Amino acid sequence: MDDFKTIIEPFRIKMVESIRMTNKEERIEYLKDAHFNPFLLDSEKVMIDLLTDSGTSAMSANQWAGIMQGDESYAGAKSWIKMRKVISDLTGFEFILPTHQGRAAERILYGYLGGKGKVFISNTHFDTTRANIEFSGAEAFDIPIKESEDPALYYPFKGNIDTLKLEQLIAEKGAEKISAVILTVTNNSGGGQPVSMANAISTSEICKKHKINFILDCCRIAENAYFIKHREKEFAHLTYKEIAQMMFSLTDGAIMSAKKDALVNMGGFLALKEEKLANECKNLLIITEGFATYGGLSGRDMEAIAIGLEEVFEADYLNYRIKSTSFLGEKLKELGVPLIYPIGGHAVYIDAKALYSHIPVDEYPGQALVCELYIMGGIRSVEIGSVMFGKYDENGKLIAAPKELVRLALPRRVYTQSQIEYVLEVFERILEHKSEVKGMKIIEEPLFLRHFTCKFERTN
Ligand code: F0G
Repeated sequence: MDDFKTIIEPFRIKMVESIRMTNKEERIEYLKDAHFNPFLLDSEKVMIDLLTDSGTSAMSANQWAGIMQGDESYAGAKSWIKMRKVISDLTGFEFILPTHQGRAAERILYGYLGGKGKVFISNTHFDTTRANIEFSGAEAFDIPIKESEDPALYYPFKGNIDTLKLEQLIAEKGAEKISAVILTVTNNSGGGQPVSMANAISTSEICKKHKINFILDCCRIAENAYFIKHREKEFAHLTYKEIAQMMFSLTDGAIMSAKKDALVNMGGFLALKEEKLANECKNLLIITEGFATYGGLSGRDMEAIAIGLEEVFEADYLNYRIKSTSFLGEKLKELGVPLIYPIGGHAVYIDAKALYSHIPVDEYPGQALVCELYIMGGIRSVEIGSVMFGKYDENGKLIAAPKELVRLALPRRVYTQSQIEYVLEVFERILEHKSEVKGMKIIEEPLFLRHFTCKFERTN
């Protein structure tokens, strides 16, 4: 490959979606109307939407062509047969269940394996994963490696699970109580950081030794494979898909939210090695999702997933994807914006506590940055800090989250280099004005998942 510095998008744009341009005065009003919570903004009022990389991908011409070929038969649709074949070939598993998105597969598998007295262990459970586990009455333990605690420290596989702690936890809880070990690749809640093949191999060996289910949360498996190929030299000779196949071969099953690396707007699946477990899950699928050959998806959705799951492993795509995320992160770092380093696969995570060191954590520096990004540039991002994970003690005092982060998640194949350069320019202004920014206070909040709907005011 040539070594030019400019990353050109490996696609041409055939269809466009207009962005409504707004100015700062308008955005101040819009944000006030949304109670300083960008989740409450209409998307039309957002210029660059970095809220999530989930379900926001641009599909290819091939995927759209596939949509027209979707077979909408209730049972045994052609599109299902095609999707099943692509997933079986990728994962090596025989038993595939389609679901409408990742959390539906989580509810089925973890609901079945979980229950009171049961334990799940992960590098980091994503929030819906944890919620489904805890809803079943089971407990969820996160044991990321200690290198993941220091945002600025360079470590190639900061998403790894701590295998020493894993052995200790198994000994402490008893192997028979452990429903599953879940490896989330890449580790979303831990900064989109990759997991190494060596770490997956060790985890697999430990699970085999203790006869514990080993499940892959594989929604960003292609992005993870990119990091393995380029950072773990023993695997550099393999293709991205072969790396993913190898990782699946170490496990007993996988859950995927297809809204990420299957390059579609909706969908998911559960893939399992063992027939008995698959049959139990299939029964649950039919009760709540749909018949086993569509599971809540249209034929056209399944067609698009089958095509997207192949496209995502193309070398030119992955090279563009990971380098464009890292372009944004590295440039922000050069500007002096504190962030989680190295840059992960799907998002850049800003350390808002370090950026706005004058704002105490109980005045939510992350939310203050989310608001500034919107007012300055119409950019929507999400706080991953004490608004999302904070709790109160018995005196009503905030128990802060360990980090105050803001995630800039990049939708796949959606924004161009010039739009990312615009984001960088907005950050230059944010830095110029950082000492003037005030904290936030929550004036109204629900009991659960407050970040979606709570209302804020600025502190004085
Ligand atoms: N697992 C991981 C690692 C995820 O990142 C997500 C979703 C899910 C499971 C659940 O999948 O949304 O299809 O039900 N992550 C989105 C995000 C919401 O913004 O990071 P889902």
